[in-house]
Amino acid sequence: MIISIAAAVGGFLFGFDTSVINGAVDAIEGEFGLSAFITGLVVAIALIGSAVGAWFAGRLADHWGRLRVMFIGAILFFVSSIGSGFAFAAWDLGIWRFIGGLGIGVASVIGPTYISEIAPARLRGRLSSLQQMAIVLGIFVALLSDAWFANSAGGAAENLWFGLAAWRWMFLVGLVPSVIYGLMALAIPESPRFLVARGRDAKAGEVLKDVLGETDEQVAARIDAIRKSVDRESEPSFSDIRHPKYGLLPIVWIGILIAVFQQFVGINVIFYYSTSLWQSVGFDESFSFTASVITSVVNVLVTVVAIALVDRLGRRRLLLIGSAGMAVSLAVMAIGFAQAVIVTGADGAPTPELQGAWGPLTLVAANAFVVFFGATWGPIMWVLLGEMFPNRIRGLAMAISTAANWLANFAVTITFPMLRDTSLGLTYGIYAFFAALSFAFVLLKVPETKGMELEQMTNDFKVVRKKRSDKVG
Ligand code: GLC
Repeated sequence: MIISIAAAVGGFLFGFDTSVINGAVDAIEGEFGLSAFITGLVVAIALIGSAVGAWFAGRLADHWGRLRVMFIGAILFFVSSIGSGFAFAAWDLGIWRFIGGLGIGVASVIGPTYISEIAPARLRGRLSSLQQMAIVLGIFVALLSDAWFANSAGGAAENLWFGLAAWRWMFLVGLVPSVIYGLMALAIPESPRFLVARGRDAKAGEVLKDVLGETDEQVAARIDAIRKSVDRESEPSFSDIRHPKYGLLPIVWIGILIAVFQQFVGINVIFYYSTSLWQSVGFDESFSFTASVITSVVNVLVTVVAIALVDRLGRRRLLLIGSAGMAVSLAVMAIGFAQAVIVTGADGAPTPELQGAWGPLTLVAANAFVVFFGATWGPIMWVLLGEMFPNRIRGLAMAISTAANWLANFAVTITFPMLRDTSLGLTYGIYAFFAALSFAFVLLKVPETKGMELEQMTNDFKVVRKKRSDKVG
């Protein structure tokens, strides 16, 4: 448990670092005199960094081990916090944000991989969900800490301490969790699955005994099973995941699609743009901020639901419930937004506004969407990616699917302002469509992995299902 929490601190940094820019962005735009396009780039470049970081983290974790890569992640976060805090222009801020993105990518791969590799099978879903808990807490804390610094200084652009503007402190405070993350990486034991792959069975045995509290015979049997599922002669490479007909193994495609669907329902539009989203339909700024806080709290609370249910109901059932609930709530949002009428704003410009019951209804639907996402797809994607691949290809397949998750996130984030200006109703119609599609996809393609040992995961999802019906594990 403690070990999983330690690994999940990376999730906190992931959440914190992706959202910390929200409260700073307007002040940065003003201080450096940026155009909307450059501002968008500074925000989104962290997502590209995350994709790159995820990609390399998976590869390096097979080579150097999970913990060393975790430590590198901590250094990246550290460097990015300092660099962003003292940035002097948009271009170097972009570089620091990219480096922070690398750290985020690392944390997003190492957390789920490490936790699933060290947790006992019956608790694995629950412990892996801690990653998402940490992510949403990170998002929430970033929101509050940004607001706190801005309030203390009387505005994000105003000087706070030592002649540094409040927005700089928003980044600098990220140093604290990055140091904790680095220290944790030095203190926790290496993944037993990685140790066995490296031929360090004795060490792996010690870890398993400590963590699982099993007898010597049980540990020996476990190491034997792990050994059979890895190949010590060679490190995993692309030939392991290639498929003559489909290009990549079916299970890898499934991982990629789970990762992409998780983003294509538009969850991060709510987290990255909520203030501008609600302002764009006529709510004022302070109300929009409150709406963001509420959404964040809801997200934290429903993650508890996921933690309670994931090892009981299973992954598939939760995902299906989530897809259905998201499709409906997104459709309601689409209809709601389509009702916006154009009024003359305070500044005399034509502004869309949600009138009558449509405003509250759309807000409620948005929070219902977050409830369904946060209790299902949010955590379960990370649980599944960490556990569904066979030992031999886990690092590699995890790298590819997680990178796909970040690229999909980037695609949604970068297209939203444009889509919003075209039609919010249409935008939400698209997200609803992907939610509905994800239902069919889960129904037809996603294996159930609840309670199975990692050694039972195979390259062919059909086999996984068959084994399950044999009641193995
Ligand atoms: C999941 C998503 C992440 C999102 C978060 C919000 O972790 O992968 O992109 O920001 O949920 O709850």
